[in-house]
Amino acid sequence: MSDFLAYGRQFIDDDDIAAVTRALRSDFLTSGPEVTAFEEEFAVMCGAAHAVAFSNATTALHAAVLAGGIGPGDRVLTSPNTFLSSANCAAFAGATPDFVDIDPVSHNLDPAVLEAAWTNDVKAVIPVAYAGQPADMPRIAAIARARGAVIIEDASHGTGGGFFREGKPWKTGAHPWADMTIFSFHAVKTLTTGEGGMLVTHDDELARKARLFRSHGVERDPSRFEGFGATSGPLAEVGPWVYEMHELGHNHRITDLQAALGRSQLGKLPGFIKRRREIVARYNAAFADLDWLSTPGLTVAEDRDEISWHLYTVEIDFSAITRTRTEVMAALREKGVGSQVLYIPVHLQPWYRRTYSYGPGKCPVAEAFYARCLSLPLHPSLSDEDVARVISTVLSLAP
Ligand SMILES: Cc1ncc(COP(=O)(O)O)c(C=O)c1O
Repeated sequence: MSDFLAYGRQFIDDDDIAAVTRALRSDFLTSGPEVTAFEEEFAVMCGAAHAVAFSNATTALHAAVLAGGIGPGDRVLTSPNTFLSSANCAAFAGATPDFVDIDPVSHNLDPAVLEAAWTNDVKAVIPVAYAGQPADMPRIAAIARARGAVIIEDASHGTGGGFFREGKPWKTGAHPWADMTIFSFHAVKTLTTGEGGMLVTHDDELARKARLFRSHGVERDPSRFEGFGATSGPLAEVGPWVYEMHELGHNHRITDLQAALGRSQLGKLPGFIKRRREIVARYNAAFADLDWLSTPGLTVAEDRDEISWHLYTVEIDFSAITRTRTEVMAALREKGVGSQVLYIPVHLQPWYRRTYSYGPGKCPVAEAFYARCLSLPLHPSLSDEDVARVISTVLSLAP
């Protein structure tokens, strides 16, 4: 392994490799028993009734929007401080993605701004659990449900996590304040399948629709057939080959190879989260007294072991240390410390500006955060020495 400490990376051990090898030797390379078992085990881990695995979180978000009945003429509100997919999924469905500014502490969608921004055409809200810290789901749900909107929590950063509220812990995927919750298993995420995603829900019908959109809109349950089973004609015989296409779906399936890796990673998830939390605690302690750097703020979760940290993002006053962010990233890189800027506010992307006339000034808190944010290495492969190197390198930036 090189000495370079990337801001995020996978943790793969011999058990993971053995699990994928077993899948490779099995009868199924496409979706088979490993996918079914992965879905069942993931649903249990979350405490959700259903888990539907996807090729990635982007396709899972798209399916969630379609399952939620969102389409042309509808507006979908999300956070600008996210990856493109949280908003693009609405545009894929012909709806209008729109952005609600973030709160300056958690950097998650601000419920007060959400309420003020509400218009009659809003049909869904997609709060994002930035860095792994969930948004204020109870408040967001109270606003959205009173107005009949669907809530899709983008917990791509939050696998295995949750938050503490009303005197008790709530698990992401299990709590009652989202209709569907999405997770990403991209390589830098808390649990990886290379590429992969999961949609979880308590709702039988939403799960059924998500499965339809995942696989060509195809229905195989004869009790639901609309054409086959006719009294006469070419559709009379309902044989074992029969399927019907009920929706315009895609092929957004995950493979058994990926699901085998996911199942193996799932067993290690508590250890991954524990290590991430230890590293976050060490960084927080080391950086607590710096006046030119702020550590991640907490809002909904009085952090009592619930957050599964995906990113460690600090805010730096670059003018106070008389360096640009590019210079800081280069100085860190020179010492083998990777960093990343997460995120460029989505409403500032050219496609969004061109298509919806969004632009600078729309979400001032997210834009101010973008100017100061920098994510430092956080993943379970970091040794204590690696963490010490990140800390001393960051401290050496002091003016
Ligand atoms: C918040 C958020 N949502 C959605 C996605 C899309 O995930 P995937 O790469 O699995 O499609 C990402 C990926 O980086 C993300 O960070």
